Amino acid sequence: MIDLFHDISAACKLSIPAHHHKGVGVIGAGGIVSGAHLPAYSKAGLPVHAITDINHDRAQQVAQEFSIPHVYQSVEELLADPAIEVVDIAVPVSEQREILLAALQAGKHVLAQKPLATSVGEAQEMADKARDSGLIVGVNQQLRFDEGMAAAHMMVNKGWIGEISGFSITVNLDTPWHLWDWALTWERLEIMVHSIHYHDVVRWFLGEPAMVFATSGRTQGQAPIGETRTVSTYVYDDGPVAVVHANHVNRGGDNSAEFRIDGSAGSIRGTLGLLYDYPDGRCDTLEVNSDVVPTDGWVPYPVTQRWIPDAFIGTMGSLLAEIAGEKALRSPIKDNVNTVRLVNALYESIDSRSAVTL
Ligand SMILES: NC(=O)c1ccc[n+]([C@@H]2O[C@H](COP(=O)([O-])OP(=O)(O)OC[C@H]3O[C@@H](n4cnc5c(N)ncnc54)[C@H](O)[C@@H]3O)[C@@H](O)[C@H]2O)c1
Repeated sequence: MIDLFHDISAACKLSIPAHHHKGVGVIGAGGIVSGAHLPAYSKAGLPVHAITDINHDRAQQVAQEFSIPHVYQSVEELLADPAIEVVDIAVPVSEQREILLAALQAGKHVLAQKPLATSVGEAQEMADKARDSGLIVGVNQQLRFDEGMAAAHMMVNKGWIGEISGFSITVNLDTPWHLWDWALTWERLEIMVHSIHYHDVVRWFLGEPAMVFATSGRTQGQAPIGETRTVSTYVYDDGPVAVVHANHVNRGGDNSAEFRIDGSAGSIRGTLGLLYDYPDGRCDTLEVNSDVVPTDGWVPYPVTQRWIPDAFIGTMGSLLAEIAGEKALRSPIKDNVNTVRLVNALYESIDSRSAVTL
């Protein structure tokens, strides 16, 4: 039975192209860089050439921890370094547009952070500039590389569960919002910052919905001013239904993060291990029940990698593989404009209390 999963696990393998020669420069030295980007690159054997942050002390500390040889005083200084061909951006979204456009102007390929932008107009402008530059720009929607999710995607592509009829993602978490000062004052919070990953993977599996309806809530005593619970439903012209339900103020102490995909010939169910005990987490679980294979009931797929940091090898590896002409980028900027469009449609639905057609 393990042989059955051979192609699936090979497709989920995360690596940096062996022959890449691109110097990488990181902009931003915050929590996600020290907690995910750099541990992932160290694990994959990808050296980082330089780093910068408006908080220079922080950049120096991180450079020391991860043996990064150059610490620049400014973005301009980093972009002027000819040894850097790929820029990895990890700053708050309000700062991203200007940095991304400057990086393109300087002739660098870019891995942008999610959210790419808060408005469709801004996302489209960046995608247009990326296209015109001829440079490669990816967006760090790294849930597409989480092993459980990527393996499920491969099973669906192989036809193991037939035509998808339903997709649900349900998370109940006690999210430590206090870790991010900027998050506390965002009016549009949960979908923009967290569930954007789920909405991006629903698009990855099912494409663009015809219509969405969303609703959101807050709870007494929560730290951020923005929404901390959202329910988003998707309607497709050709049948499938999808729902994302995320709650970030779980006072019950029983964090959970589950997804399920139902099809005409079987089902897939899984958990996102990271969220049970963030940031330590555990491996995902994934099981498949297929009439096509066929399986004898539910069969577990053995997940061996973590969402964080491992999936960050995926987003950077995919960018470098596209630059090397080896493999198409899994999360290109052009595609991500539609994730930003979807997120905005969900907020429009929340605000208008009505379904929004895309
Ligand atoms: N892809 C993912 O899964 C993922 C996960 C977490 C965070 N993020 C995104 O990454 C970004 C950073 O998140 P974080 O958790 O590291 O936040 P953070 O607040 O810990 O770090 C942000 C860093 O950016 C620096 N910075 C701000 N403006 C800058 C500028 N103009 N030039 C250079 N440096 C600047 C800050 O000094 C800070 O060190 C956010 O956009 C967030 O949405 C993505």
